[in-house]
Amino acid sequence: MIIENLDNNKLFIVYLLINILKEKNIRGYLVGGAVRDLILGEKVRDIDIGLEEDPKIIIPYIENHLISFTYHEKFNTSTLHFKNGESIDLIRCRKEKYLNNGGLPIVQPSNIRDDLFRRDFTINAMAIDLLNGEIIDYHFGKEDLVNKRLKKIHENSYLEDPTRIFRAVKYAMRYGLEISDEDEIIQCIQNGAIDTLSVDRIVKEILMILEEDTWTEALCYLNELNIFKVNKEVLGKPNTLESYDNILLRILNLFYSLEREEDKSILINNSIIPKEIKKGMGRYLYEKDIVEKLQLQNNNYNIYNILEKSTYIERVILLWNKKLKYKIINFEKNLNNSKILDENFIKSIKGKSGREINEIVKNIKKASLCTGIKGGNLKWL
Ligand code: CTP
Repeated sequence: MIIENLDNNKLFIVYLLINILKEKNIRGYLVGGAVRDLILGEKVRDIDIGLEEDPKIIIPYIENHLISFTYHEKFNTSTLHFKNGESIDLIRCRKEKYLNNGGLPIVQPSNIRDDLFRRDFTINAMAIDLLNGEIIDYHFGKEDLVNKRLKKIHENSYLEDPTRIFRAVKYAMRYGLEISDEDEIIQCIQNGAIDTLSVDRIVKEILMILEEDTWTEALCYLNELNIFKVNKEVLGKPNTLESYDNILLRILNLFYSLEREEDKSILINNSIIPKEIKKGMGRYLYEKDIVEKLQLQNNNYNIYNILEKSTYIERVILLWNKKLKYKIINFEKNLNNSKILDENFIKSIKGKSGREINEIVKNIKKASLCTGIKGGNLKWL
């Protein structure tokens, strides 16, 4: 059985559930991305299981294997955190109906057929019946995987849930698929489908794209689709202060690469990205004079005074500006030197007034920054 290709911890959970489902005679299915990745022979990330019953019924039988769980009455969905470190989603199979494009659907309990029909793409709409191990593939997802095609399942899929436009690009780049519905997607975008989404939903999709190994390719595709405009020259360009292993750098790089101010502002005005990051991007966007001031300045001490008021995030962003790169690198080096210098020096001065100490420190900084003399060398003062 294909299920046996799951790693041991996931397999343990799936077998645990299979036994309970058999005993209670409940129909249950492995659904979505896990089936797709098993068929492709890829590592399975998340386990989603759909039941033709309320998951609430199952939880008491597995509770001793759990650290904790959450249950949402409204959607009959549950997330289970197991003692072996795995988390899975257990959901009630359902039918969905959209009242407003871009909003959330109303749901109604149903069977696996309806549950697979409500989904985004044929490759994500396969299931494995946990009672007999059979693959259920009403929409020919397997064939599409083989032929490297990404296709929607039902009419109005992109209009009702335009996050699927971002998802289409994500999967196309991840698995090297051709998006069969590209013309329809372009039409939806032209008709303003993206504008029906809340900023938070857009940002969540963007962050999921930024988590991908193919994040730069995906952003270029979104650029071609005209969802936003990016400067491809700076996309993915190295940054001496941080590495792209850190998703935060990818956010800042996208921010810097975006050409339209309204696109940049999406990354600032949402409740998903951490406050400090938004603050740094906000200062960069709305207090633009720092770039001009830095460009005009060649004196290290004056550069130091300008950059001293900046945040680290701002400086990481400024580093992509070719003209400012070395000024920022220099500042970061000197920042450490001057800190050591100030602390040691202040400690060693007794009986001087605050103003005198400030003046001395200022002069030391000036000497250090303009001559390149390091803090340690200035101890004789
Ligand atoms: N889904 C959907 N429409 C969405 C989001 C999700 O139909 N807008 C369905 C898809 O069937 C998807 C499943 O819900 O396979 C789970 O979604 P998600 O966890 O986002 O994706 P995975 O398929 O698990 O893929 P991955 O995490 O590998 O990106």
